[in-house]
Amino acid sequence: MSLRDIPKVELHLHLEGAAPPDFIRGLAAEKRIRLDGIFDADGGYEFRDFAHFLRQYDEACTVLTGPEEFYRLTRAVLAESAFHGVIYTEAFLSPDFCGGGDLSAWRDYLAAIQQAASDAERDDGIVMRGIATAVRHHGRDACRKAARVAAETAGDFLTGFGMAGAELEGRPGDFAYSFDLAKEAGLRLTAHAGEWGDPQRIRETLALGVERLGHGIRAIEDPRLVDDLADRGITLEVCPGSNVVLQAVDNWDVHPIERLRDAGVPVTISTDDPPFFHTTMTAEYENLQRTFGWQEADFRDTNIAAANAAFCDTATRDAIL
Ligand code: ADE
Ligand code: ZN
Repeated sequence: MSLRDIPKVELHLHLEGAAPPDFIRGLAAEKRIRLDGIFDADGGYEFRDFAHFLRQYDEACTVLTGPEEFYRLTRAVLAESAFHGVIYTEAFLSPDFCGGGDLSAWRDYLAAIQQAASDAERDDGIVMRGIATAVRHHGRDACRKAARVAAETAGDFLTGFGMAGAELEGRPGDFAYSFDLAKEAGLRLTAHAGEWGDPQRIRETLALGVERLGHGIRAIEDPRLVDDLADRGITLEVCPGSNVVLQAVDNWDVHPIERLRDAGVPVTISTDDPPFFHTTMTAEYENLQRTFGWQEADFRDTNIAAANAAFCDTATRDAIL
């Protein structure tokens, strides 16, 4: 079986971050919005480092001005994921870009995204669930608003709450209120941690009650933390291509995904923001095969780990296993 054809489960995909540059350029032209220097000479996204990436990302999102744009975005993103063999995906949706914390606006955006997901399930055979995601560098108040609207709309489609953005701003405990609120509403929890933050920050993030970690790769620096993650079955949403491009690791050869896996930590494979990092799920698998010699059985294990950690009901999970 070709790597593209392997049925894949992806747990870490930012919906806005998956917008192809042509899609963003097209919307900007339609709406006569001037985008400030986010594209390189080849038409791809341009950024120098992680901080610059976050600014460019926010700028690109300024053209996503209504539910209709999110319907079109979701259809485009899911069609591309399905092309690469993804059968189930969890997408991070940021209330900050969908009405800025206004509940009635958020309901409209979410309905459009859910409609697109349902149409994609019918047409492309891919199942999607949403994780409402606070953006840390937008501040604590924005995070609380994101948690509030997420809590109001928790259900079969919106199944999780998470946090992305500039990991080193503030301490994880600053966001405990938001995570508590989301948890009380029945949302499952994940957060970006250990992409840039040290093992202590990962521990503080675990104290928020998360079941999974976005990235989590710096856990490798602390063998006791690695054992703890393995014992507790904390699943890592690993995005190796993102880590290489953003320079969270120096190169593929030194990426810790295999060492984490061999220590018993449940690792899964995702793309994060594929067009920003010039990646796809197929490309991630190809790079893991080239670097570590991973074969179909290795990918079967990561996909089973992903299905087991998915924020969906058991019937949906059993159907993708
Ligand atoms: N938002 C989108 N991609 C991200 C990443 N890799 N880290 C933190 N926040 C993000
Ligand atoms: Zn991410």
